[in-house]
Amino acid sequence: MLLLLGLGVLMMSYTASAQKSNEQTSDLQTKQRRAEKGSVAMRDRGRYIVKIGGCNDCHTDHYIESEGAVGEKQWLKGSRLGWYGPWGTTYAVNLRRFVSVFPEDQWVSFARTAKSRPPMPWWTLKDMNELDLRAIHVFVKYLGPDGENVPAALPPDRMPNYPYVQFPMPSK
Ligand code: HEC
Repeated sequence: MLLLLGLGVLMMSYTASAQKSNEQTSDLQTKQRRAEKGSVAMRDRGRYIVKIGGCNDCHTDHYIESEGAVGEKQWLKGSRLGWYGPWGTTYAVNLRRFVSVFPEDQWVSFARTAKSRPPMPWWTLKDMNELDLRAIHVFVKYLGPDGENVPAALPPDRMPNYPYVQFPMPSK
């Protein structure tokens, strides 16, 4: 009788602990699922901001000429179109390589403080809210590093090779 009772208690506690560990696994799965959903949401948000924020206009080759008909696999690989003005000549960098080098937090502080040369609208990045900056990071990392580096910027006394866009000199 005692033996039977003992067995019963043992079985009960076994079932209870099995149930508990099942609960723990499903807790973990829920958390994982939520995290994945979170990062998919961040990726979608990043894609949206990049698109609406105009980043492709300069950082993606042929984006303007094709009226935005460039697949996202080709986005943000930088451009060899020079921007020539009083600051010299700049090239819209390959963000697929540039952004993914930064850990997310450092990207946020970089974006907040960078003062890039024209025509980069650095003030757009500076005023972007933190979640949006993080979303850009998630999206660009998801696209992955790809493409060549763009030519190095030139000082004002050097003429760029074609193709380039010439800004008017400031009036005196
Ligand atoms: C009008 C063209 C243009 C647009 C629009 C533009 N960029 Fe740029 N971007 C540039 C150019 C040109 C450079 C290189 C500037 C330099 O060499 O100082 C640059 C540089 C950068 C850099 C490197 C910063 C540095 O100082 O080295 C980052 C990061 C960047 N852009 C992100 C973005 C993001 C994100 C967007 C969209 C919100 C965007 N850019 C929109 C032209 C543009």
